[in-house]
Amino acid sequence: MEIKKICVLGAGIMGAGIAQSAAQAGFEVTIRDMEDRFVENGLTTISGNLDRAVSKGKMDQAAADQIMGRITGTTDLVMAAQDADLVIEAIIEIMEVKKQVYQELDNICKKETLFASNTSGLSITEMASVTQRPDKVIGMHFFNPVPVMRLVELIKGFTTSDDTLNIAKDFVEKIKKTSIEVKEAPGFAVNRILCPMINEAIFVLAEGIASAEDIDNAMTLGANHPIGPLALADMVGLDTMLLVLEGFHRELGEDKYRPAPLLRKMVRAGYLGRKSGKGFYDHTK
Ligand code: 3HC
Repeated sequence: MEIKKICVLGAGIMGAGIAQSAAQAGFEVTIRDMEDRFVENGLTTISGNLDRAVSKGKMDQAAADQIMGRITGTTDLVMAAQDADLVIEAIIEIMEVKKQVYQELDNICKKETLFASNTSGLSITEMASVTQRPDKVIGMHFFNPVPVMRLVELIKGFTTSDDTLNIAKDFVEKIKKTSIEVKEAPGFAVNRILCPMINEAIFVLAEGIASAEDIDNAMTLGANHPIGPLALADMVGLDTMLLVLEGFHRELGEDKYRPAPLLRKMVRAGYLGRKSGKGFYDHTK
């Protein structure tokens, strides 16, 4: 099957980045979220990224306009999904919410449409199980910021077919990224390694061992990471971090995955990182 039209569900940080990457590769993309303001935010993020590329001389204005012209925003799920060949879901990391959406999609989409979840670690098999097309559901995990990051993890659920995997591999190649194939397991490969490190950095902060700035300097200057773990948590979103860690703790059942209490407290206070303006750093200035 040839993928031409893409539907991206969720216009948050990840959904907007995925839509941009697909549109840059020439795909027609419809991006859908629950409310107009979320859709608007997603479109503003994308046009901001393209404006930056134009001002840096990396892209000309005509190319940027063409990319934007391939992206449509909507709150209407039927309009967004009915003629899509591939739906990439990047909504909240709550299984019950995802299952509900997959059931709706299953009724709306063509029978050959593939469903790909950008979940950071929830079970693809479980999402696939609520559809009549469990062979056509796959994990397609992107990294933040999507337009820059080159990796996509492809996760085959228990029922995902080789055909689906191959189409997904081909799509990832077309959007100029590299895929790796990982088995279904909490956090797959990248987050299983990355998120406990970020959690540990939050413990180090909470125990008063070092300041946020020094923890981040420790890992950028002492381990050559491009960005420190606390700055990265702010970038990913503290609420997402917490949901991912709670999932690890629940599924893997080991204390080493328990979310740092400080992380929980900050999420409760609305300190979600860059997206809310405040996290480990102040992003309002
Ligand atoms: N969107 C689009 N482009 C962005 C961007 C964004 N949010 N942020 C930065 N960029 C682009 C810049 O425009 C610039 O492009 P150019 O090279 O064409 O000029 C390039 O990225 C480099 O940006 P900067 O020079 O401003 O800044 P840095 O050199 O510090 O790079 C970074 C920024 C690429 C984000 C770098 O800090 C980095 O690699 N950080 C680590 C990112 C990471 O680990 N991501 C994984 C998170 S985990 C995850 O996503 C999984 C999820 O499931 C939780």
